[in-house]
Amino acid sequence: MQVDFLGSFPGLDGRPEPVCPEFCLLGRSNCGKSSLINYLLRRKGMARISRQPGKTQLFNYFRVQDRYDFVDLPGYGYAKVAKTRREAWWTLLCRYLERDERLTAALHLMDARRAPSDHDREVAAMLRERGVPSAVVVTKLDKLNQRDRMPAFRGIIEGLSLDAESPFLLTSSHRGTGREEVLAWIEEVLTLNADGV
Ligand code: GTP
Ligand code: MG
Repeated sequence: MQVDFLGSFPGLDGRPEPVCPEFCLLGRSNCGKSSLINYLLRRKGMARISRQPGKTQLFNYFRVQDRYDFVDLPGYGYAKVAKTRREAWWTLLCRYLERDERLTAALHLMDARRAPSDHDREVAAMLRERGVPSAVVVTKLDKLNQRDRMPAFRGIIEGLSLDAESPFLLTSSHRGTGREEVLAWIEEVLTLNADGV
């Protein structure tokens, strides 16, 4: 898979010209966004993985096979990041999700072990409101026992008020689970996008 790193940008201005459909990866801090990108692209270390959550404070653009862009976004809601910085990032993220013309679709990542936060709910509501194609991608599936999975999924579905048709994809970047399903969803969106639907 050919992947080009286009760069990291501190805000909405100064990003490269929009050429390809854009898929953003969103989620609370430490939920596994960068790991998922590396797993999907089969590139270890392509998107920076950090054990210190909240480190990625930039819009990081990756172009995949000259067909679409992934945007690795900073996580929201990390308590150890200074409050003003956290709020500034949240404001910028809302602007991007509500208004940015280049956004084609969103992958909303949810750590399998964690109940949706208020920010998660707000993100889901903003995406729904705008009608942006979006999929909930449950991450770190390997961390849950079989018997804890259904209650966890139910908690996420109810917490985010997802309806029965909402794409709900199960992944583990560590175990290597769910890559095909995520890539298939992306292809679906690309097809709809090309048809102008
Ligand atoms: P920020 O950019 O800081 O918001 O974090 P992120 O969402 O990009 O998360 P990142 O990919 O950096 O992963 C955070 C931590 O979770 C790292 O320690 C990863 O190794 C771990 N992690 C990511 N994916 C998985 C997974 O599928 N399973 C397990 N067990 N751990 C994972
Ligand atoms: Mg990251």
